[in-house]
Amino acid sequence: MLGRRNFLEMWEDEAFDYEFSAGRLFMRKVFVCNSPDAVQFAFSLKNASFERKSAQMRYALQPLIGDGLFISDGDTWRKRRRIVAPIVHVSRLSEFAPVMVETAVEARDRWARLQPPSVDVLAEMAHLTAEIICRTIFGRQLGREHAHEIVDGFSDYQRVINQFDLVSLLGLPDWLPRWYGPAVRRSVTRIHAVLDGIIESYRSRERADEVSVIGRLLDARDVDTGEPLNPEAVRNEAAVLFMAGHETTANTLAWTWYLVSQAPEVEARLHAELDSVLGGRLPTVTDLPHLSYTRAVLEETLRLYPPVPILPREALQDETYQGTRIPKGSLVLVVPWLLHRHRKLWDKPDHFIPDRFMPGNPGAPSKFAYVPFSIGPRICAGMSFGQQEAILCLATLAQSFRLRLEAGREIKPVCRLTLRPEGGLQMRIEPREARELHEPRAAAAQDGLRTGCPLGHG
Ligand code: HEM
Repeated sequence: MLGRRNFLEMWEDEAFDYEFSAGRLFMRKVFVCNSPDAVQFAFSLKNASFERKSAQMRYALQPLIGDGLFISDGDTWRKRRRIVAPIVHVSRLSEFAPVMVETAVEARDRWARLQPPSVDVLAEMAHLTAEIICRTIFGRQLGREHAHEIVDGFSDYQRVINQFDLVSLLGLPDWLPRWYGPAVRRSVTRIHAVLDGIIESYRSRERADEVSVIGRLLDARDVDTGEPLNPEAVRNEAAVLFMAGHETTANTLAWTWYLVSQAPEVEARLHAELDSVLGGRLPTVTDLPHLSYTRAVLEETLRLYPPVPILPREALQDETYQGTRIPKGSLVLVVPWLLHRHRKLWDKPDHFIPDRFMPGNPGAPSKFAYVPFSIGPRICAGMSFGQQEAILCLATLAQSFRLRLEAGREIKPVCRLTLRPEGGLQMRIEPREARELHEPRAAAAQDGLRTGCPLGHG
């Protein structure tokens, strides 16, 4: 079925123009909120009515993450959010930054030795961000030791769960029994065993000096009862952070390398900023406020290729939007893929123009028109972590290399659980001259690369 192959192909050309639409998917009513006002209505003003993730998303992830933050709602979500969000909060970032840079340096050194100098950038970024999140969650040593097992386990799970026709499931009523096959159960047993083993080794070692998420989850107390989290909850939240926190950042970085390689003026300005701010040394958190163009490049990439291109919710009660009744049980979608390229909201919606996000420029037309991290109470808990990680990794690697697409390759986005380049992103690595300063060609950069809508829209 079409949607199973690629969720992006479901949208007709007009979808980049309309503001709110009502339709039907099998037995379920579906509403698409495609204007800042409609997004604010669903995700902010009426969050209580739409806080539940779609049945399809809960179905796909429940065996793996149980009652974890990402798919829970109601009281469980509120309690977990109060525990998990502060652990990866912006105020903690200076603790995590050294792990991010140190892991990016390992990638840099590996790239420098590669023969031939060619990589699948998507796989490389996935490896890099998985290493970072593993070391952050489990501490440097345990993270290093177990990153491979964890990555393999999660990839296997994604492969088996992808074999379901998720779009059909979106439309089925909740009372219909859903059945997980033996492949899903085997995959889950394997990941849980790995995670339980790591948590056990963590408990048995004395590592008070090390910053790790797992230590903080183990120390956390329920705000009402004062009880610690039960072992299953600790495992579920560790799994959520791994799952939510690596592929999204990896895809952002991969799309950035692709876009920058296609836009010489942007590449030159990026290099110029890195050279003048860092002068060849490694980045630290104190450099972040000065890397505004690097940040703008990433923000523009997140606009054109939002790693989570569809945010599906289920209506928990009847609501009405601008006279249209949204019955309880309906599927309500915010689709960053459409919203971020909306023709009435953005100037040159398909062009890659990082300048729009530079200080002093208008940026997004509304905070409800630009939602790569979602918005409202369920906004990504790791937003600052992900932004900082992407800046530090890009700054570390782009100081040393430029990447070039292999000749004749055409890049097409495909969406399974996240939006990524179909078939990976094979690129050639070219070393840069150290501290070579580039003069930006500002006039050309204004207009930007036109990415086109690779699915033929627009
Ligand atoms: C560029 C990187 C990232 C992007 C684009 C991103 C995007 C998102 C989006 C769109 C959601 C909401 C999903 C939905 O409503 O269906 C979300 C939720 C979440 N993300 Fe991220 N994310 C990124 C990085 C991270 C990182 C690094 C972490 C952890 C360290 C993280 C942890 C979470 C968690 C825990 C949630 C669930 C929040 C809740 O339901 O209360 N994310 N993310």
